[in-house]
Amino acid sequence: MIEEVRIAVLVSGQGTNLQAIINAQAGGSLGPAKVVLVISDKLGVPALEKAENAGIKTAVLERKSGMEREDFDNLIADILRKEKIDLIALAGFMRVLGKNFVKEFSGKIINVHPAILPSFKGTSGISDAFESGVKITGVTVHFVDEGVDSGPIIAQSVVVVEETDTEETLESKIHKNEHELYPEAIRLFAEGRLRVEGKKVKIISKETI
Ligand code: GAR
Repeated sequence: MIEEVRIAVLVSGQGTNLQAIINAQAGGSLGPAKVVLVISDKLGVPALEKAENAGIKTAVLERKSGMEREDFDNLIADILRKEKIDLIALAGFMRVLGKNFVKEFSGKIINVHPAILPSFKGTSGISDAFESGVKITGVTVHFVDEGVDSGPIIAQSVVVVEETDTEETLESKIHKNEHELYPEAIRLFAEGRLRVEGKKVKIISKETI
């Protein structure tokens, strides 16, 4: 019997991925994973309302001007330790976490990125892909390491860029893929089915666990 896997979701904005994770949990497709905490680095964002509507504990930790990154990371780490979090899922969290933070929670931080990494890293993956004229783009879920959008890749899905697509239609196709892929990756983590071997992540079958 797999124990409950306690998840914290870190957000900065809309929270549509958070909502997809909440929906997956409500629908029974998140395995033993349970979202117990949502942390936002911005006050008043829609993601916080989504968490509150689902009855999930929230915390807002703003990085005040002049505050060192390390001190801000420590504020987040304190609450994660207190809540005994097993998995930190970044969902549109638009801050880079520092080396010490990543080291402490190594193997327990994952992120969803709106492009096929290692292409189009950074905070504008959708528009960068659209502007570049690629014919395919997509979504990546990956472990977070000390680099930016560079950790071992757990799962990817492809979105075809049609000639009729605008940046807006492409964005909504990418979001649709994210909302399927991210909960699925969280379930695999929670079921203990991800094995990281160097840069590669192996997904092991249920029978082998
Ligand atoms: C998502 O598209 C996510 O992939 C992206 O921010 C959006 C958040 O949407 N993240 C990044 O670009 C990280 N580099 P949401 O708040 O509605 O989930």
